[in-house]
Amino acid sequence: MSESPITYRYGRVEDDEAISELGARVFTSTFASLLPQNDLASYLSEAYSTTNIAADLRNPSVTFVVATVDNTLVAFLQLRRDTSAKCIDQMESKIQLQRLYVSEKCQGLGIGKHLLARAEREARDIGAKNIWLASWKPNHKAERIYESTGYVKAGEIAFALGGSTLEDWVMVKSI
Ligand SMILES: CC(C)(COP(=O)(O)OP(=O)(O)OC[C@H]1O[C@@H](n2cnc3c(N)ncnc32)[C@H](O)[C@@H]1OP(=O)(O)O)[C@@H](O)C(=O)NCCC(=O)NCCS
Repeated sequence: MSESPITYRYGRVEDDEAISELGARVFTSTFASLLPQNDLASYLSEAYSTTNIAADLRNPSVTFVVATVDNTLVAFLQLRRDTSAKCIDQMESKIQLQRLYVSEKCQGLGIGKHLLARAEREARDIGAKNIWLASWKPNHKAERIYESTGYVKAGEIAFALGGSTLEDWVMVKSI
């Protein structure tokens, strides 16, 4: 990575292609070896299509924060207010950290932790009392980071990815 500073700002509709490309690429480099290729391809073409990301960027229930270096997008987070999971349905005033992705060459530099702290600030600013996320069980690295920043397991949720059914931990942090 260059020595240029990392800048954090809200995501904008014109970031749709960069977020779509970064999300699909990091998802692939992180998870491809653990998933059937067909399932991966169909999931990416839907969840990370530019159209889908642009719709999320326009959705008033969704907030994006991006990190850039030299105007290149290197990380993003996505918060969403209109989601839940069965094991936390009774929990009032919550917001989901739905996506957190850092470009491969920028991982391990503290960007993920910075974005996690930013997610909490954003959640507090809109009045949420809890922040929750779903973390795929084999993703031990992410699970460790969430636990080290105060998230605790609240249950499990099944997640359909193409023809595969994946198991996620539901993790919650009181903020
Ligand atoms: C998980 C992810 C968001 C973390 O962001 P990051 O910028 O790489 O993490 P940070 O540099 O902020 O490091 C956070 C902590 O993880 C540790 N860490 C960093 N890289 C690590 C690695 N390869 N293995 C184990 N721990 C690691 C750091 O030491 C740090 O802990 P510390 O503060 O106690 O020292 C990022 O690596 C990523 O995008 N991974 C692929 C996609 C993914 O799994 N997303 C999350 C679930 S959808």
